[in-house]
Amino acid sequence: MKISVIGCGYLGAVHASAMAELGHEVIGIDVDAAKIAHLSEGRPPFFEPGLPAVLTSAMASGRLRFSSDIADAAGARVHFIAVGTPQKPGSYAADLTYVDSAIEALLPHLNAGDLVVGKSTVPVGTAARLAGVMEASGSGASLAWNPEFLREGFAVQDTISPDRLVYGVPDGEPGTHATALLSEVYAAALVANTPLVVTDYATAELVKVAANAFLATKISFINAMAEIAEVTGADVTQLADAIGYDVRIGRRFLNAGVGFGGGCLPKDIRAFTARAEELGRGESVAFLKEVDGINLRRRKRVIDLAVSALDDSAYNKKVAVLGLSFKPHSDDVRDSPALDVAVQLRGLGADVTATDPQAIENSRARHPQLNYSTDIEETLRDADAVVLVTEWPEFKEIDPVWAKSLVRTATIIDGRNTLNAEAWRAAGWNYQALGRP
Ligand code: UDX
Repeated sequence: MKISVIGCGYLGAVHASAMAELGHEVIGIDVDAAKIAHLSEGRPPFFEPGLPAVLTSAMASGRLRFSSDIADAAGARVHFIAVGTPQKPGSYAADLTYVDSAIEALLPHLNAGDLVVGKSTVPVGTAARLAGVMEASGSGASLAWNPEFLREGFAVQDTISPDRLVYGVPDGEPGTHATALLSEVYAAALVANTPLVVTDYATAELVKVAANAFLATKISFINAMAEIAEVTGADVTQLADAIGYDVRIGRRFLNAGVGFGGGCLPKDIRAFTARAEELGRGESVAFLKEVDGINLRRRKRVIDLAVSALDDSAYNKKVAVLGLSFKPHSDDVRDSPALDVAVQLRGLGADVTATDPQAIENSRARHPQLNYSTDIEETLRDADAVVLVTEWPEFKEIDPVWAKSLVRTATIIDGRNTLNAEAWRAAGWNYQALGRP
């Protein structure tokens, strides 16, 4: 099938490559010529394990091309919209400028019978509005909404073998046509018995935000328990294990720590709150404000523990920060709790040196005031306190005896509950974690 993918950011670049890998003929389009130049050379403009291999093999097969000219989308039967929907500055709402302009730019190049497929995360009601715009243009193309559930770090695998497919389609014949085309695109996943939900636009849009709201709530729930554990001497990791054995609860996404970040969960819960308020149902998701609040308090907790270990003043103290990305195996620092903690400590006057296996460049572009090092040894040297905020395997493997020989004061705040507390304490460290004695 001939496919176009409009928007070659994180989602679009992965989607275009994965679709080509599945045998489709794909053109990836983006207004950013520099991004297209990178991708055309087989180099993703961001770090994602597995993507370079798939991108290179799809390009070598001749099935994947990139262009900055939207006219090159003409001739494809299915056009995926994979542009960003960031948080609007100064507001909780999602900024739909890129979605609107992608549809507008695509309209003159659509043929009757083409299917436009929204993949971006949008406020409920957007697809119906865009379907109206397309209808009014008289292109004869129809619209489906097909949300994406990929996780950074596992994006290629999640796209090629998704755990479910959701099609939001219009009623009647256009809906049947859309379902048939999408099922041709995803034939490989359907043969592998991937669960499929075919539904209306509003449900498809809501599935995505509801899933992310649930995941965020689960993390903030366990982080709220961590707050209670901190004043009672309980251990939140054992608590999570014990409640997680109940299959109705499940142990995944119950890791207490410095909280969630990234390009999706924080902005999606905020946009959901804003949209619910517009719909007159703000109270239905008012709890998401609390979810956000708990999440942000965890960053403060890490900082408070560090400051208190520094005799109540971070001023001129040397702090080593392990981790900058919002989670391991990613170079993404959007709304990263790790980078935020580093920046806030710097704001308190600390002399911060931060290290991360992948995210230094992105962090430096946003916060040049921090010191960065690619070397763990250099980062730890002469530190008055160490703060671990992203659970990269490289940090878990640090030998506490070796690390103690480098620092000035052996205090570590484990903001991800990831290190072996006994081993660090046995090596003479003042080891502190979140929600654990
Ligand atoms: C998320 C959703 O998982 C994915 O389905 C959706 O499509 C996009 O948003 P992603 O942002 O890649 O994916 O990251 P995820 O693995 O979900 O982690 C989100 C954040 O939660 C990270 O900052 C992570 O460190 C944090 N987290 C996760 C916890 O603090 N505790 C946990 O138990 C799990």
